[in-house]
Amino acid sequence: MNIINGKQFIVCQLNSIDEITQAFLELKDSQFDRTIYEEGVFNAFIKKIAQFANTYVIIHKKNKDKETNSSYKNEIIGLISFYANDEEKKHAFITMIVVKNIWQKHGFGEKLIEIAKSNSLKKGMETLGLWVHKENNNGIHFYKKQGFIIFEQKESQYKMIKYLPPPPQTYNNPFLFLLFRPLF
Ligand SMILES: CC(C)(COP(=O)(O)OP(=O)(O)OC[C@H]1O[C@@H](n2cnc3c(N)ncnc32)[C@H](O)[C@@H]1OP(=O)(O)O)[C@@H](O)C(=O)NCCC(=O)NCCS
Repeated sequence: MNIINGKQFIVCQLNSIDEITQAFLELKDSQFDRTIYEEGVFNAFIKKIAQFANTYVIIHKKNKDKETNSSYKNEIIGLISFYANDEEKKHAFITMIVVKNIWQKHGFGEKLIEIAKSNSLKKGMETLGLWVHKENNNGIHFYKKQGFIIFEQKESQYKMIKYLPPPPQTYNNPFLFLLFRPLF
């Protein structure tokens, strides 16, 4: 459990359709683009990510009310859903990242990217990517700070990617190459 500013935060992986549905509904108001919530889209989207993606949430664990001895409902701070199953291209893909409005700019977005990065690396992925709306300036700024670069674009969106780990710069420098060259 992480303790930030005296508050307790835990990271949980969600697997069931019910848990994932609940988390997405709780974060709906904080989304930049709400098209996935449209009727006929939402259920199919949740079913797909429950089956193929990895979904993690950061939860603010609230203490018991000492007077009534009842527990406060834990609050979901943010969520990330990503695929790390393309073994051919070794490309992991973030299909959703969102931090609740009131908790933004506290470092939780960075923590969620860190979860996707380490998990994707463990599964042998070499790049991590996502699509972002061209008008989502906050999002683009955030991803650039996290080391993503614009890779391609379509009408209203950019595809941004990040190398996992970064490409080996050392080999551009012949002296460092001699130091770090493979032994065999
Ligand atoms: C994009 C998004 C996920 C970023 O999450 P976040 O939690 O705000 O991100 P972070 O806090 O990790 O970093 C954002 C900024 O807060 C700053 N920050 C990090 N920790 C901080 C702290 N403890 N105190 C103050 N600022 C902090 C970061 O340096 C960064 O600053 P910058 O504005 O100068 O770049 C969030 O804004 C969001 O959910 N947006 C709506 C949904 C969305 O657009 N999702 C992306 C769809 S593609």
